[in-house]
Amino acid sequence: LILNSAIDAERSKQKPTTNMIPVLEHLRTIFDFAISSSFPELENPPTTITQVSPNLVKFGDYQCNSPLALTKILKGNGVKCNPKEIAEKVVSNLPKSDLIASVNVANAGFINIFLSKTYAQTSIKDLLLNGIPNLSLEKHRILVDFSSPNIAKQMHVGHLRSTIIGESICRLLEYLGHDVLRTNHIGDWGTQFGMLIAHIQDEFPNYKSVSPNIGDLQNFYKQSKKRFDEDQEFKVRAYECVVKLQKGEPDYIKAWQLICDESRKEFNKIYDRLGVTIKEVGESFYQSRMEDVVKFLERQQLLELDEGRKIMWTSEEKVGIPLTIVKSDGGFTYDTSDMAAIKYRLHEEKASHIIYITDGGQGGHFQLIFACAERAGILNPKTQHVRHVPFGVVLGEDGKKFKTRSGETVKLLDLLDEGLSRSMLKLIEKGRDKVLTKEELEKAQNAVAYGCIKYADLSHNRINEYMFSFDKMLDDKGNTAVYLLYTYARIKAIARNCNVDVSKPNIGNLLKSEQISLEHEKEFKLAKAILKFPDVIFKVYTDLLLHFLCEYCYELCVTFTEFYDNCYCIEKNSEGKIIKVNNGRILLCESTILILEKCFHILGLNPLEKI
Ligand code: ARG
Repeated sequence: LILNSAIDAERSKQKPTTNMIPVLEHLRTIFDFAISSSFPELENPPTTITQVSPNLVKFGDYQCNSPLALTKILKGNGVKCNPKEIAEKVVSNLPKSDLIASVNVANAGFINIFLSKTYAQTSIKDLLLNGIPNLSLEKHRILVDFSSPNIAKQMHVGHLRSTIIGESICRLLEYLGHDVLRTNHIGDWGTQFGMLIAHIQDEFPNYKSVSPNIGDLQNFYKQSKKRFDEDQEFKVRAYECVVKLQKGEPDYIKAWQLICDESRKEFNKIYDRLGVTIKEVGESFYQSRMEDVVKFLERQQLLELDEGRKIMWTSEEKVGIPLTIVKSDGGFTYDTSDMAAIKYRLHEEKASHIIYITDGGQGGHFQLIFACAERAGILNPKTQHVRHVPFGVVLGEDGKKFKTRSGETVKLLDLLDEGLSRSMLKLIEKGRDKVLTKEELEKAQNAVAYGCIKYADLSHNRINEYMFSFDKMLDDKGNTAVYLLYTYARIKAIARNCNVDVSKPNIGNLLKSEQISLEHEKEFKLAKAILKFPDVIFKVYTDLLLHFLCEYCYELCVTFTEFYDNCYCIEKNSEGKIIKVNNGRILLCESTILILEKCFHILGLNPLEKI
């Protein structure tokens, strides 16, 4: 009795659900409730809900498998029962839900759940009228440390991965309403600047009055390194330069700035082309804070002298490897700047979350930083969350580390240029140059080139290494950017070809007289694919794995194509004249567009009206 009134109370609390919500989450909540009401004697009984493959829908759209597990638990407690009875009990305690059309219990004890067509209709209508849903979540201030190349050194494919993944993660977090601090922790400080400055003093003695064109900084770096290794006198001078630079002597700062500006120009070209927004807060920014953090750690007696170095262990037991906080020559390291940075970010920037995006090889470094920050009282893991988001190395088509034929690091701008020329060849091969205007063709060239480079990266599980292949990424079949861009443009063309006005106000008008058409099995299948969007977003958000979003886009496009092949949106007579437009289906096309546009934005793809 008590139980039933609890269920009734739960039922009466519910307002009708008319907008898109994460279906899986919702099902988990109500089944959780039903299961714990059915078995109040069990502590944390398991609730598992799975999505049924869209091609097997006669068994339901979702399934709850918990009764099997519950049977085992109850048997363990000495209670005799079978999964089917348990399933029936759970169903009898299930709160009412607008999302569910019906549930049934299979003999084996599964609970099959069928999604409601009315819910699909109302929530898609809401999507069309009010746009992509705001998925309400607790909002945080999240700092994302990504890209982070090094001055005077080549920005390489590893930085490209960090840039692409980082930009997408920021876009996702921004969509979810978080306050995102996009941060470029560039390597612009350290001993290598000593030799670069000493070299500039010799090569461009009047660098203080005219800006020298250092041009190829790579070569400049190589030359100075050579001198540093071979010429003892130069080496001494280089060390003196570092000291003067770190003290902030104006001439040295000037020379340093010239070098940084040269690199920055290159970095910005890449960011512009890829549509990346990021704020530079490089290692140099932390100079005074590094001095402070050393004092801070010393006051707590956390630093230990080791052959002239000052090191810090993650715990008193001194296991593993320590951080090097001060070198024996008094200089700071990568560790020092990361300790100063984590303190600054948590306490001055007031970020509650920090995400670091680098290759997996740096995992150990970040674990040490996090552990030492906690030990020093900088990081409180109860309220502040730091996370390393690693990715695998990029391989060339030969399966070896990605290099040019002559074995050098591939210049990113060259790589982007190659993407552009390959994408143009592909468009010409498909005869697009004959149908598109010059501007449209150029737009398509850019969208395809940069889109495919980003998508190839994002569509692979980031943890794994991935093979860079222009041939594969420019394929127009399969899960590629090209296929998605084509599908999007085809959907866009449907409304255009039948002259239906799909501007927002008119969609509102259409919806007054028209239902979203869901009678045909393929229509409902498409609608159900659309309804998965919020769950996919939550999954991507939890794991920060963007390939789930790519897979979803692909599934949505394939499901759309199936719908379009089976359901006429327009009917034409034998002369090719349009005799009937099915507005309900046009509305379904437009809702697919809205979802795709949101996904494209997160993935950094530029949608094209025509391709
Ligand atoms: N500059 C570093 C590199 O090229 C990446 C920096 C990552 N961020 C950080 N806070 N350590 O490997």
